[in-house]
Amino acid sequence: MSTSIRRIGVLTGGGDAPGLNAVIRAVVKTAINEYGWEVLGIEDGFEGLIQPGRVRPLTLDDVRGILPRGGTILGTTNRANPFAYEVKTSTGVQTYDLSGDVIRHIQVLGIDLLVVIGGAGTLRIAHDLSKKGLLAIGVPKTIDNDILNTALTFGFDTALNTAMDAVDRLHTTAESHHRVMVVELMGRDAGWIALEAGIAGGADVILIPEIPYDLDVIVDKIKARSQRGAKFSIIVVAEGARPVGGEATYQAQRDPGGVKRLGGVGEVFAQQLRECCGVDTRVTVLGHLQRGGSPSAFDRLLASRYGTMAVHFAAQGKVNHMVALRCDEIIAVPLSEVTGQQKYVPLNSDMILTALSLGISLGNTRQFIEGIQSPGDTDGH
Ligand code: F6P
Repeated sequence: MSTSIRRIGVLTGGGDAPGLNAVIRAVVKTAINEYGWEVLGIEDGFEGLIQPGRVRPLTLDDVRGILPRGGTILGTTNRANPFAYEVKTSTGVQTYDLSGDVIRHIQVLGIDLLVVIGGAGTLRIAHDLSKKGLLAIGVPKTIDNDILNTALTFGFDTALNTAMDAVDRLHTTAESHHRVMVVELMGRDAGWIALEAGIAGGADVILIPEIPYDLDVIVDKIKARSQRGAKFSIIVVAEGARPVGGEATYQAQRDPGGVKRLGGVGEVFAQQLRECCGVDTRVTVLGHLQRGGSPSAFDRLLASRYGTMAVHFAAQGKVNHMVALRCDEIIAVPLSEVTGQQKYVPLNSDMILTALSLGISLGNTRQFIEGIQSPGDTDGH
């Protein structure tokens, strides 16, 4: 299909992730070098299409030197959903549907196609706007790796390495003090970062949202290690982990226009451990360190491939799709097939079997784990 694209826009939405700048660079270079298109950079995600004066041209000069930089040169936000835009007024918070304004703004700017780099929330907005006439192509970003129909999101590998490094470092101090070290990792409702960092870092216990935990099973594991002479344990806890029959732990405050924020389960769990068996326990919350820093070689490469192929797919007329990784190939999948659900750790995967076979406790009995029917069982990594 020949394309009528002359000018494209690019925005980054949701939480930042290492590799965003590598995607922006690849989009700009491919659009200019291969097709002679103009590129407009939109600041702070969809906020830049709601507020005036937040759009600027991006040239080859603008993207020089940004490949190794963390963050995003365009800025980002996870609070600007045009379909439910929250505005603080003297009488409280008012919610408006500004999606029509966004479509009009895109037309006024002469943007023929929008490259939307974001996670599940941002891609859902792009999909919903596409039903109102937007031509978009999505690029899957998130350290959580929880987007459907792609083996990997960019940003995940860098976060995983940061988390693994933390687990490595906790080993020595745990061993010296004969302590239990709990490290809380991000990932929202999916356990990818915790599971993979835990296995790669040699954790003794890994708690993920997909497997509700039983404190007794974990205490037995710590005691068994102690009886074998290991007087310390490393416990990796995903921020979305929860006990059997219990809820995930949320932070007290929600940002206006933002989603409920997970956080605090590490300390809750550590307190349960202290109370039940008096174990000397310390907690580390790795937090936003997982989102910062220079992208790994893997993420730079994946982000560059995603950005480049997003432009090539758009030129071929494959719009309202998301670029995705499948069997080491970049493909395009319809936005309708990546939104609405998340990708969880499948409990029948070799990753789970590997953890169990290595003697890592996943916080519950094998029988319990085998009995869980999780949404993840239907979607491979
Ligand atoms: O989705 C990425 C992520 O880092 C999650 O792992 C975490 O729960 C959330 O974003 C934190 O968001 P914020 O930056 O708003 O605190």
